[in-house]
Amino acid sequence: MSVKTYWTTNASVLIEPHVIRERIAELGRQITLDNQGKSLVLIGVLKGAAIFMADLIREIHLPIEFDFVAISSYGADTKSSGIVRLIKDSDISLQDRHVIVVEDIVDTGLTLRYLLEVLQSRQPTSLKVCALLNKPSQRSTPIQIDYCGFELLDQFVVGYGLDINERYRNLPYIGVLEESETGK
Ligand code: IMP
Ligand code: MG
Repeated sequence: MSVKTYWTTNASVLIEPHVIRERIAELGRQITLDNQGKSLVLIGVLKGAAIFMADLIREIHLPIEFDFVAISSYGADTKSSGIVRLIKDSDISLQDRHVIVVEDIVDTGLTLRYLLEVLQSRQPTSLKVCALLNKPSQRSTPIQIDYCGFELLDQFVVGYGLDINERYRNLPYIGVLEESETGK
């Protein structure tokens, strides 16, 4: 058996690519089973969820449409500011549709709380949440995650779409940074 090596970073591997892949296949199976006979609209939150979205939609065996929104909340910091703003909207009408919001990670929940309120006002038939990662210990507003990939402790993670100051999004695994890198 060969030992997999990745290009050099200060991030140590927390979740291996094949583990991510298997979990996403399970999430896709569950979403497919739960929504038989329906068509779905998946709304991803840029930029973090782009990679997760690309893999997830290929594991859902239903008619789907997908689009992205962008929200600003963190700026270049690693802590949620609580100030959120929709900076790119979706072109797809959500009225009377079954909508699933696709997020990379739910931390304080402030970003998602805001987005869910905005999307709910468009009168979808149903509005659910699929998040690859969940940090429940950091929650400051209650959020129901209908489909969750992995639960994390209070760790700042990067890779597979997640960044710090826009870096590391292209790591094929989820990694944890050395403390010095997160500025904590
Ligand atoms: P929330 O509003 O605190 O739930 O923040 C959610 C957003 O913060 C996510 O969509 C990420 O962009 C970012 N975020 C939260 N935790 C992490 C992390 O550990 N690594 C990278 N980004 C994170
Ligand atoms: Mg970010």
